[in-house]
Amino acid sequence: MSEEASPVSAPPSAPVSAPPVAAISVENLSHRYGNFPVLSGVSFDVQPGEIFGFIGPNGAGKTTTIRIMATLLEPTAGRVLIDGIDVALEPERVRRIVGYMPDHAGVYERITIREYLEFFADAYDLRDGKVVDAALELTELSKLDDRLVASLSKGMKQRLQIARILLHDPKVLVLDEPASDLDPRARIEVRDLLLELSELGKTIFLSSHILTELSDVCTSVGILERGRLVIAGPIAEIAERLERERAGEAAPGAEPAAAGGSSSYLTPGGAVVPPQARRRLKLRVLGPAESVVPLLQGGGGVLDVQTAPGGLLTVLYAGDDRFVADVVRYLVQQGVGVVGVEPERNELERIFLEVTRGELG
Ligand SMILES: Nc1ncnc2c1ncn2[C@@H]1O[C@H](COP(=O)(O)OP(=O)(O)OP(=O)(O)O)[C@@H](O)[C@H]1O
Ligand SMILES: [Mg+2]
Repeated sequence: MSEEASPVSAPPSAPVSAPPVAAISVENLSHRYGNFPVLSGVSFDVQPGEIFGFIGPNGAGKTTTIRIMATLLEPTAGRVLIDGIDVALEPERVRRIVGYMPDHAGVYERITIREYLEFFADAYDLRDGKVVDAALELTELSKLDDRLVASLSKGMKQRLQIARILLHDPKVLVLDEPASDLDPRARIEVRDLLLELSELGKTIFLSSHILTELSDVCTSVGILERGRLVIAGPIAEIAERLERERAGEAAPGAEPAAAGGSSSYLTPGGAVVPPQARRRLKLRVLGPAESVVPLLQGGGGVLDVQTAPGGLLTVLYAGDDRFVADVVRYLVQQGVGVVGVEPERNELERIFLEVTRGELG
C-alpha cells in the first residue's frame, strides 16, 4: 500500500506537527431563552495556560456562556469545544477535563472540610485517597481539615469550592464570579490561588463584572455586552491595537473635533490629544514636588502636572511607556531623587472604557 493513497497530500514543506488545540474555543455561539436572545454570535479562543477574564455587566450573558461550557445548557446555535471536544456532543468527556464552579454555590455546612471533599471524591468515583490531600494542600486547607464547613469564613468556603473542583485534576477551570462576595483579603487569597493553579499548567476561565478583580490576574480578556462580544484577546495585544488606532486618530490631518468639547488638550506642536489618549503617571520624589514641576512642564507629551504633599506628582501625558522611561531618566539626570513611579496601573480599565459604550458599570 502506498502512502500516497491519502486524498490530500501535504506539501513537502508543511510542518509535521498539528496546530495547538485551543483550551476553549467558542464558535459563533448564540442562545435564547424562549424568544429572548441572550447570546448572539459570540466567538473567541482561550489558549492553554491562559487566565482568561470574561467581563460584562449584569445580564450580559456570562453565566449562560459558562453553563454551556460546563455542559449544563445546550446552545441554540454555534458550538463550544473544550480541548477540542464539543461540549454538546461529548459532555461526559468534557466533564472529566473541566472543573466548574457556579456562582453563589452553596456548601454543605454540617460536615468537616475533609468529609466534604471525600464525599465529592466518592461522587466522582475517584478511588485514589490522595486526591483529597492534594486538593487540601493546594488550597492551604490541610490544617483545617477537621473544621466544620459551617464555621468557615466566606473566603475559606470559596477555597473549599475550588478544592472540590480540583479533585479530578481538571485541565480547564471555569469559575463563575469566583470573588464576587469576598472581602479584599479573601479576594487577594483567591487571586493568589488562581495564579498558583495557572503555574501548575491549568487553563483558567473566570467571569466577573468587577474589572479590578481581573486586572492583576488575567492574561487575556473577553468583554461581553448585551450578549455580544465587544473584544477578546491577550491584554497586551488589545492595548497595542488600541494604541495603534489612537496613533492613527492623532495623525496629522485628523479632525480636531475628535478631541471633543472644552476638555481638549493640545500638544506643544498644536495637535489635539483625544481624551482616550491621555494617561496618568504618578511620581514620588525626595523633597518638595513643586521644585520638579518646572522640569516637567513644556516637555514633549506632558499635558498637565499636579502636586501633592509628600513629594507626589501626577503627570497627565500623551504617550506610551517610553514616555515614562524618558521622564524618569531625565529627572534622575537632573539630580531629582525619584523614589516612586506608578504608570497608570490599570491597562484593563483603559481598554474597557475605550471599547465599551458606557453600558457597563
Ligand atoms: N433560565 C432563564 N430563563 C430566562 N431568562 C434567563 C434565564 N437565565 C438568564 N436569563 C436572562 O438571560 C440574560 C443573561 O443572563 P446571564 O445570567 O447569562 O447574565 P450574566 O452576565 O451572568 O449576569 P450576572 O452578572 O447578573 O451574573 C439576562 O437577561 C437574564 O435575565
Ligand atoms: Mg452571572
